Amino acid sequence: MARDRSVYRCTDCGAEHPKWAGRCDGCGAWNTLVEEPVAAHRGDRAAARTGMADRPPVRLADLRHETLARWQTGLGELDFVLGGGVVPGSLVLVGGEPGIGKSTLLLQCAGRLEAAGVPTLYVSGEESPEQIRLRAARLAEPVDAVHVLGETALEPILHHAGALGARVVIVDSIQTTYTTDLEGAPGNVGQVRECAARLMRFAKEAGPAVFLVGHVTKGGGIAGPRTLEHIVDTVLYFEGEATLDHRLLRAVKNRFGPADEIGVFRMTGAGLEPVADPAAAFLAGRAGGISGSAVTALLEGSRPVLVEIQALASRPGFGTPQRVATGLDQRRLAVLLAVLERRGGLPVGQLDVFVNVTGGVRLVDPATDLAVLAALISAVHDRVVPPDALFLGEVGLGGEVRPVAVVERRLAEAARQGFHRVYLSARSHVRAEGIEVIGLEGIGELGTRLAA
Ligand code: TYD
Ligand code: MG
Repeated sequence: MARDRSVYRCTDCGAEHPKWAGRCDGCGAWNTLVEEPVAAHRGDRAAARTGMADRPPVRLADLRHETLARWQTGLGELDFVLGGGVVPGSLVLVGGEPGIGKSTLLLQCAGRLEAAGVPTLYVSGEESPEQIRLRAARLAEPVDAVHVLGETALEPILHHAGALGARVVIVDSIQTTYTTDLEGAPGNVGQVRECAARLMRFAKEAGPAVFLVGHVTKGGGIAGPRTLEHIVDTVLYFEGEATLDHRLLRAVKNRFGPADEIGVFRMTGAGLEPVADPAAAFLAGRAGGISGSAVTALLEGSRPVLVEIQALASRPGFGTPQRVATGLDQRRLAVLLAVLERRGGLPVGQLDVFVNVTGGVRLVDPATDLAVLAALISAVHDRVVPPDALFLGEVGLGGEVRPVAVVERRLAEAARQGFHRVYLSARSHVRAEGIEVIGLEGIGELGTRLAA
């Protein structure tokens, strides 16, 4: 593509400007203008966006089914999250904080695919081939057959991928990749979006699957991956606490499979290992017999996962009581504490309260409310919750316990893991083999039962 001039587009309102400015004339937002290649390429850009080349209309019936065949990587959890394997011609964004294990995951994925006869190219703009070799030496599985390329310029990347006949191309990372058609530095929004759009077109036209690695900071806000979510087919986020060895691979968008699924890995000294029993993985380190601990079954995509919630309540030394929530929204904790005080009659207003969800899991499923309250009640009374008890319920401002979605599957998982008593809404009307179901109208009742 010959480069003649650029325009600048506002990422908020889309207004076009011939020159860069600090403030958008269209909407008044500051620092939102990004460089974009010129109008002569507009047709190309539209094609890049939709990923469709010049192709006449076809009847659906005339398209062959094989086009959606998938390549299994053999990393079970990755295949599961992708919806059954890697889809040829798809563009997958793998986002996550630096150091979480994205490069390791994709190098292992490349090794597996190569071994399965799918030619794979691993392009790194962050590490030299020699450094990748060092990483490879740590891994428990062979990745030697993978082609690696240390390159940051998009044009040579596309050239080498084509020349090699790669069916899978991994670009690590999109923030270090740049095109000479734009002046901006690698990593700026314009570069990141343009490179991703070109790689999208490459994937759709030439047919390889392309993985993009994108770094995301804790806030998630930096220029880059978030702005790509609508361009790519699939968005996977790799999450976890740096101090814990569990890693969650979460599909937040998937054109070729269910979104919201998670895969669970363990980071070991020899690379990432898919966890065999993800539903039980987070309870593994649970110490019994301690007050302030309650277990719930939350839903991650189609999978129920059992997690432990821990609470600690103590008298503050002085000043305003502290409320610290880890793995749970701070405001949700404030609401639940207010409900506990007003509807449950438990005076917690003057206590320091700490709530922690173990295993680096975040509670977003409202069905976990009841377990948070059970942990708090147990902590305040310093009374241990029965070890085989599970809590499932959303709690309203009136203190009422509400039924949860997909309750049967959660109960089945609980039973499988040895939980025989489940506290839930009296309106749930469920039965499960081997489980005593305890129906609650409101959280006052929960307090009475746990204190009894
Ligand atoms: P990496 O894949 O480089 O993360 P990212 O690409 O997301 O920045 O992972 C880096 C971390 O993983 C680093 O702290 C070292 C650790 N690690 C292991 O614990 N075991 C291993 O076998 C490998 C390769 C890395
Ligand atoms: Mg990396």
